[in-house]
Amino acid sequence: MSTNRTFTMIKPDATANGHAGAILDQILKSGFKVVALKYTKLSVEQAQAFYAVHAARPFYGELVDFMTEGPIYAAILEKDNAVADFRTLIGATNPADAAEGTIRQKFAENIGRNAIHGSDSDENAAIEGNFFFSGLERF
Ligand code: RTP
Ligand code: MG
Repeated sequence: MSTNRTFTMIKPDATANGHAGAILDQILKSGFKVVALKYTKLSVEQAQAFYAVHAARPFYGELVDFMTEGPIYAAILEKDNAVADFRTLIGATNPADAAEGTIRQKFAENIGRNAIHGSDSDENAAIEGNFFFSGLERF
């Protein structure tokens, strides 16, 4: 299993608010290389499947509504220690708890509308990357 890749989405809030360029710039300047990238919009069925692990949580319906309200950028990123380093770069789930200078501290609205996704394990990074990208879309 690869340990040098993670998967991210710039969520609909940050995309609609015009923060995608600044966020991608911060990601690249932090040493991540783009392996795959697309601009797309999740259907309700796709968002439900992507976040199926949270299906029993009280915020699941709100999360699916949010993630389908507008387009996103999805990407596979490469760097040594990618999953952990990317979680550090994006900051805590709740932007009120996110460290100074992190992407969520700078761009997230609140715990639900929090600007960006980052995989939480190497296994999920692979599953999530495969959800969005074929082998032909990776460079
Ligand atoms: P993500 O998966 O998007 O990178 O976020 P995360 O690991 O930091 O947080 P996770 O627990 O996996 O939650 C997934 C997403 O659900 C929304 N959420 N809302 N209203 C709430 O209490 C709440 N809690 C989580 C957020 O969009 C969170 O990123
Ligand atoms: Mg998560």
